[in-house]
Amino acid sequence: MTEQRDDASERNASERVPDDGPHGRGTQHLVLVGLMGVGKSTIGRVLAERLGTRLVDSDDLIEEQTGKTVREIFLSEGEPAFRRLEQQVLLDALAAEEPLVIAAAGGVVLDEGNRRALRESGARVVWLVASLDTLVDRVASGGHRPLLDDDPRGALARMMDDREALYREVADALVTVDCRSVNLVVEAILR
Ligand code: S3P
Repeated sequence: MTEQRDDASERNASERVPDDGPHGRGTQHLVLVGLMGVGKSTIGRVLAERLGTRLVDSDDLIEEQTGKTVREIFLSEGEPAFRRLEQQVLLDALAAEEPLVIAAAGGVVLDEGNRRALRESGARVVWLVASLDTLVDRVASGGHRPLLDDDPRGALARMMDDREALYREVADALVTVDCRSVNLVVEAILR
């Protein structure tokens, strides 16, 4: 995995990604992974615009397909049902022939099959990373994040511990977002 933080590693990263298509390496998808609040949807939107590709935003698509909000699905059908929908959206997106930007929901790495699919798809997987303070500042209460209802800082801290190795397992590159504008993060991803 490349860490696109400093000049040396950024040079390294651009050497690894031949510029032969909108995302490098032909018709490859670009997948953003990372914890809630890191900015996957916002950064994904700008990236898709820059690359002229479609954005698949996991949570938005689940809500569109089911006619229910993520919160309603968690409450009425439970987390396992939500995770099955999350998996279907991920696998469908990875199977698409057109190159996509995919803003994967934060929990997508929890499932071993999803991690394998990400690794085997040939997609370029970028792990967006932020400090706990940044994440806590950014996650709004309510909305599509029922897992953060009670104690957002505690829940995010636990997820950071539990999921770090899982994000690392699927990621081709790591980009930190703390103190960086959306445009700077997009530049770092495209470098
Ligand atoms: C979750 C992340 C959320 C949403 C759900 C569960 C998670 O998406 O899918 O609340 O377990 O990390 P975002 O990562 O887009 O906030």
